[in-house]
Amino acid sequence: MAQIERITVIGAGQMGHQIAMLSALGGFTTTIQDVKEEALAGAKAKLEGIMGDWVKKSKITEEEKEAAFARLQFTTSMEEAAGNADFIIEAAVEKLEVKQQIFTQLDIIAPGHTILATNSSTIVNSLLETNRADKVVNMHFFFPPLVMDCVEVVMSDVTSEETAEVTMKVSETMNRTAVLLRKEISGFVANRILGALQREAVYLYEEGIADFKDIDTICRKALRHPIGPFELMDLSGIDVGYYVMQQRYQETGDPADQPAACIEEKVKEGNLGRKTGKGWYDYTKKGVTQ
Ligand SMILES: NC(=O)c1ccc[n+]([C@@H]2O[C@H](COP(=O)([O-])OP(=O)(O)OC[C@H]3O[C@@H](n4cnc5c(N)ncnc54)[C@H](O)[C@@H]3O)[C@@H](O)[C@H]2O)c1
Repeated sequence: MAQIERITVIGAGQMGHQIAMLSALGGFTTTIQDVKEEALAGAKAKLEGIMGDWVKKSKITEEEKEAAFARLQFTTSMEEAAGNADFIIEAAVEKLEVKQQIFTQLDIIAPGHTILATNSSTIVNSLLETNRADKVVNMHFFFPPLVMDCVEVVMSDVTSEETAEVTMKVSETMNRTAVLLRKEISGFVANRILGALQREAVYLYEEGIADFKDIDTICRKALRHPIGPFELMDLSGIDVGYYVMQQRYQETGDPADQPAACIEEKVKEGNLGRKTGKGWYDYTKKGVTQ
């Protein structure tokens, strides 16, 4: 099996910076690339904070933290990031045209042996055209990657067994439980189940059956979900779910897959959840602990 030493993560947003940290903690020489300098600076600051907490909580030692940071490089240059990577994980914005552009660039810049994985929440890898379809795979981490112990590895009809095996091994070396899915479907397993739950929650809210806070309370108390569906939308970003639904609708043409009006409204207002201070809940108000 191919020896993986250098991993590159494209996109330093909510997902990318933590995936890169998992990679560095797993012992890989890691580069994180973003088009925005400020995204890289933000990523570095956040990771220093989280890793500092891990040391305080004795999850890792100071030496392990320093060794991991020594393996982690930040850059805006795609050439620098992809030129000698063995394995690349794309974690840029959830828009097919952006991902396609990145994959086209990576296909040119990255060495021939390099595996190209996408962390997309919904886009199946066969939609991303390259000249190395056997080395393209989905590697779907969950938010926040430093906490959530699961990765869905999804093969297309032409993803090779070796690519799948290497991706499973890389996930495990990053200390994540990996599950291999041999058949592609938009949204894979977790997000399809979650999508069904969120669609129903939004339907009940829009029909005026219950307020969103009450729906969250019922899910937490009666179903023992750790957080309610609206709280979860705020946590992962309402725009992220919106793009997922738009993408699915583009693929299926099924009106049931279209984003709900209340979700579209929040995205248009820029109320995207915790990251903007307001989504379903207002996080700028004192006393909001959810
Ligand atoms: N947020 C979640 O809950 C979650 C969970 C699992 C998977 N995902 C998937 O992970 C991916 C990233 O999501 P996110 O929540 O981190 O988004 P985000 O908006 O927080 O971050 C995206 C980052 O990509 C960068 N970017 C945009 N275009 C780029 C390009 N051409 N080259 C390099 N960088 C570029 C942006 O500057 C930004 O920093 C998406 O595909 C999403 O579906 C998200």
